[in-house]
Amino acid sequence: MLHISENSMVALQEVKSDLSGKFYWKFSSPNLERSTFHLLNINGKLLRPTLVFVGAESVGLNSLKFVNLATAIEYLHISSLIHDDIIDKDDMRRGIETVHKKYGIENAILAGDALIARAVSLSSVYGENVVKKIAEAAFQMCDGESMDFCTQRRNVEMNLDNYLEIARKKTASLISTSISIAAISEKMDENITGRLARAGEMLGIAFQVRDDVINSIGSFELGKRPGNDDKKFNRPNIVSVMENGGESKKDAIEKSINLMSSNVRNAIQELSEFEKINYIKKIIAAYFSEEDLRKYL
Ligand code: IPE
Ligand code: IPE
Ligand code: MG
Ligand code: MG
Repeated sequence: MLHISENSMVALQEVKSDLSGKFYWKFSSPNLERSTFHLLNINGKLLRPTLVFVGAESVGLNSLKFVNLATAIEYLHISSLIHDDIIDKDDMRRGIETVHKKYGIENAILAGDALIARAVSLSSVYGENVVKKIAEAAFQMCDGESMDFCTQRRNVEMNLDNYLEIARKKTASLISTSISIAAISEKMDENITGRLARAGEMLGIAFQVRDDVINSIGSFELGKRPGNDDKKFNRPNIVSVMENGGESKKDAIEKSINLMSSNVRNAIQELSEFEKINYIKKIIAAYFSEEDLRKYL
């Protein structure tokens, strides 16, 4: 149960209908249309749009003003999923076939590109500093994804430092941007935007760790094939990184959960002076519950 405010609930609802709405897309190619809407038609957890609204509300801004921005960030996120699934050769996402599995690599590359184009167009209304910030996050994601698959290819054993650097780039950059973007758009003080961005980065790392733990436990909960990060594929996964460091699988999972929780605590600490800290805490708790994660053990 997500404890977001009435206003943010309405804003999130608008994001959902914008994501599945076709009115502003004018496709000539039915293949591109089908490939682009394949994942748009299925909602994910909507963490990033939610964080856009939480970030806005935490500094006294109205979420409804940032619906298009939250939608733009979700487009960028979905484009990264489509391209990531090509790179990772995965065949399941959000409980259905990946875009490239169903429509081929060519269409999947173009669908991802089309979503990036849409994200740029929608976010441009919020001004130059917003577009620059989103573009920087997109660049960080590319950089992180490249480091990620290079370690897979070269069969390099990862340590915790490499792992965290990759997670920071491929995942935390966009999550950090999501929670701070409304304040950035309003050109708020660096003391505020900086705190939000740092908290978002820690939450982003916590989120990747959570994703990795669920993957290594082997649950279909995320709508992806479980175990697809395992040693056979040599994909960066926090649990195998800890195992490489000599931990048993059980201890590796425990330590990973602790790492998630300490990042969440530090993120909350970073925002502790915000007036709305109790509200922020509740939402963060709903996404990063240790208790929920332990249910999969
Ligand atoms: C998946 O992100 C990719 C990672 C950063 C681990 P999400 O787990 O947020 O994906 P959806 O949007 O809910 O499908
Ligand atoms: C997630 O990469 C990061 C991006 C999509 C940019 P992963 O490969 O770790 O995530 P999943 O498990 O496929 O969602
Ligand atoms: Mg992947
Ligand atoms: Mg990947």
